Amino acid sequence: MDDKQKSRAYFNRHSSTIINRNGYWSYDYKITSKILMRRGVKNLIDIGCGNGAFLAMFHEADPAAALSGLDLSHEMVEQSRRRLPQADIVEGDAENMPFADGIFDAVSCHMSIHHHPHPERSLAEMNRILRKNGTVLINELTGPAWLRKFMNWWFTKWPTGDHAVYSRAEMEAMLREAGFEHIRSRLITPFTYVCVGRR
Ligand SMILES: C[S@@+](CC[C@H](N)C(=O)[O-])C[C@H]1O[C@@H](n2cnc3c(N)ncnc32)[C@H](O)[C@@H]1O
Repeated sequence: MDDKQKSRAYFNRHSSTIINRNGYWSYDYKITSKILMRRGVKNLIDIGCGNGAFLAMFHEADPAAALSGLDLSHEMVEQSRRRLPQADIVEGDAENMPFADGIFDAVSCHMSIHHHPHPERSLAEMNRILRKNGTVLINELTGPAWLRKFMNWWFTKWPTGDHAVYSRAEMEAMLREAGFEHIRSRLITPFTYVCVGRR
């Protein structure tokens, strides 16, 4: 199995565990949700949306916002749909998204890019589906270089489809390469960061 098949199988099996039901990183989501609210986002898609934990939090903050989600795992998609019947949740691959160009105000991606074997393809797709001046927001795992190196080695032994974690500088460079501008990042905790840019 490649990492994408492992991710799909793992998240199909574990879609209803308690940690997934409540979202992995709800502290981070409070902060990323505020960033998007401050930018006046009214039409948001969350990529690798899992069971919809972040979308549910954003919906509480702004019940009028139009919400969409995309996830590779059928079971995660089903859970998101049950949780947020008003949202448009689609099963699909971030590296090849089934959406038209320029249709979203903002694209977020929480704790999913480290599962993507070709993150540069996912970021190019995020750029494509965003309207001009739209916001991209990436929330990810990180750590000192030795820890990232260890994690990236460990991922090769692990059945969860995790592929690689990146430093903030690496993620900023990937966003730039994908065509984004005005890129900023900051740590949220010692092991997680948010990186934001504009199309
Ligand atoms: C660690 S979970 C995070 C879920 C959710 N964003 C959260 O923070 O609770 C990673 C999610 O990314 C999804 N995923 C992994 N690879 C993907 C891909 N290529 N395209 C879309 N979703 C993907 C998985 O199915 C899983 O739901």
